[in-house]
Amino acid sequence: MKLSKPLWKIAGLFTFLFLLMGRAYADEGMWLPMLLGQKVYDNMVKRGLKLTKDQLYSINKASLKDAVVIFGGGCTGEIVSNLGLIFTNHHCGYDAVAALSTVEHNYLHDGFYAHSLQEELPGQGLSVQFLDSVVDVTTQVEAQLQGLSPADRMKKQSQVIADINAKYSDPSAKTEARVSVLYKGNQFLVFVYTRYTDIRLVGIPPESVGKFGGDTDNWEWPRHTGDFSVWRVYANHEGKSADYSPDNIPLKPKYALPVSLKGVKEGDYAMIFGYPGSTNRYETSFGVKLKTDVEDPAIVNLRDARLKLMMDRMKTSPAVRLQLASSYAGIANYWKFYDGERKQLLKYDVYGQKQADETKFTTWAADKPEFSAVFSDYAKAYTTWSPYAKTRIYTIEGILGSPLMQFCASLVRVEQLLTTAGREADAKRAIDSASKMRDVFLKEEDQPSDLKILAAMTQMFYTDIPRDQYPVGFFEGIKNKYGDLGSAATFNTYASAVFSNTFVFSDAKWKAFVSNPDANVLQEDPAYAQASAFVRSYNGRYAPLFSQFMATTNNLGRLYIKGSMLQFPDKLRYPDATFTMRVSYGNVKSYNPRDAVHYDYACTMKGILEKYVPGDYEFDLPAKFLDLAHKQDYGMYKDPVKNDLSVTFITTNDITGGNSGSPVLNDKGELIGLAFDGNYEALSHKIAFDPVYNRTICVDIRYVLWCIDKLGGADNIIKELKLVKPV
Ligand code: ARG
Repeated sequence: MKLSKPLWKIAGLFTFLFLLMGRAYADEGMWLPMLLGQKVYDNMVKRGLKLTKDQLYSINKASLKDAVVIFGGGCTGEIVSNLGLIFTNHHCGYDAVAALSTVEHNYLHDGFYAHSLQEELPGQGLSVQFLDSVVDVTTQVEAQLQGLSPADRMKKQSQVIADINAKYSDPSAKTEARVSVLYKGNQFLVFVYTRYTDIRLVGIPPESVGKFGGDTDNWEWPRHTGDFSVWRVYANHEGKSADYSPDNIPLKPKYALPVSLKGVKEGDYAMIFGYPGSTNRYETSFGVKLKTDVEDPAIVNLRDARLKLMMDRMKTSPAVRLQLASSYAGIANYWKFYDGERKQLLKYDVYGQKQADETKFTTWAADKPEFSAVFSDYAKAYTTWSPYAKTRIYTIEGILGSPLMQFCASLVRVEQLLTTAGREADAKRAIDSASKMRDVFLKEEDQPSDLKILAAMTQMFYTDIPRDQYPVGFFEGIKNKYGDLGSAATFNTYASAVFSNTFVFSDAKWKAFVSNPDANVLQEDPAYAQASAFVRSYNGRYAPLFSQFMATTNNLGRLYIKGSMLQFPDKLRYPDATFTMRVSYGNVKSYNPRDAVHYDYACTMKGILEKYVPGDYEFDLPAKFLDLAHKQDYGMYKDPVKNDLSVTFITTNDITGGNSGSPVLNDKGELIGLAFDGNYEALSHKIAFDPVYNRTICVDIRYVLWCIDKLGGADNIIKELKLVKPV
């Protein structure tokens, strides 16, 4: 599961309150490996773990944690050889491989393997981060936050955190420190990482294999996706982080995971290390209701429309398909997630469960002034903010869902600086950075689909948002010039005019603007005019309300969890996911998704062939793949239980977006698979972990090796691994 990036693009606007609630069942929990309590460790041993605590995480000795990295911006990867070889998911390397590809050399479509170090391809903008150390700074932070109002507390907390980050970071050594706010502000840990920026592509299967099943199968079990890619981290000759140079050499890691050929069967122990991005297990009933009634449906409707318009174009040309592939995949991934999340929240009546817990809390808190008003205050905060929640999403996901609008929104600051006396130097810097953003934007821009997206999003805002929340005068302007606002044609004509007349697409006009910046050029531009109308309207009228809402609910969340800890002092607790290293344990396990239906714990090659549809967008396969499959040429990768090639399997582990690419380890800490998804029946997992239905979907490492070796012919990679064979 990958982090959902697009939604967060507009910095920090969303309302998720991240806390934990309900009983901790056996496999619920994303534990901090550096603070693993004895009870949790004992439970792991009971479930089958054969390693010591020190082998999992140690401060002075090489341990499992040293093989686990943050891959790119929102995934996990693991070191699998003494030459810095990394495994992660196909969808984690997707963007970088798309950027390396052209229609003529389409590595994304065809796959790629380097047969020597020289053939590896530097991935642009990629990095991995190793966790060096973790320090508890709770006392230090709390000392500076005493007695502040919620809004002041939030402000001060950011300052204190920035200071600590600076103190523990060392840019010259590429050491980065990031304080993580845990338990909603009841604990603060600073995580110190070293970032490596010379990351090269070693291998990736053809997209038909790496993304087999596409969006149809995404978030679903049974599943047959070969979701892996292979990379290598390079360093300078001293083993220190260094930017790309042909002189760099493969990093010698502290620890590399052994790779197991022993396979998995029902009931086996499974442990996952990785970087889950965010959960909100202490979400309130108010938050659940806002999500199911307003936020999730809004995101889904807007994305649905955008995706259809993108797909119409992607189907017409391989060049456009390549150009939009990565952005499309990201939007589609969380489009389906939010749709499923809403359905499962409703199905399991998470709202009702939350309400029951809150009633108990309030009863417990009745004679405790610090906590007694938590839920009445929550109610007030939600009443104040909720009427604008949809407008916020329609601004971010709708209007700014047009790439042209997204780019123009970044010019609002340029205009501000140009119209403020004495800010010329800042304006110049802002324009330089806008020029760079424009290059990136143009490279990914497909005007025909964007034009239709702009028309559709503008119309949806008009139809779905209350009139008094429109940017003042905006729709009157369209009506006066283009006619009936009830007709889609009006919005299409309007959007066509925006696209024909904006200066953004003209290199000559852009150059003229850069050499002689003039706020009038922006103000008179139709694309900029729309972006700035919506951004200013949002920032002026709703952003302050949203900040207040966030400050209040953050503070209430902190109190709620603090109170819960007193209410249930014996409960084992883990902090909500914060994209910091966690370990989760469980077992390989089949399940029954609904009455009379049984889902086995593993999928096999047989199932791939059953799903195969020649020429299909999502279920096609390469000729060589079919040939090997028909010959059943599986060698040492074949599964003895299934008497077939095992492709994927499921476990009961608790993971979420950010865990994509995470190592799935057996009882001895050997690699048995890569986690890549969650199942549809448990898509409520960010808010409520379901002990019956929750499963993590993993690609079987033996399938990964078969794809590399037999399909890819890259036995050079296999030779680098420490293989553990069955006895
Ligand atoms: N659901 C997977 C995750 O969140 C991503 C799979 C990407 N594939 C796709 N068809 N969009 O990590």
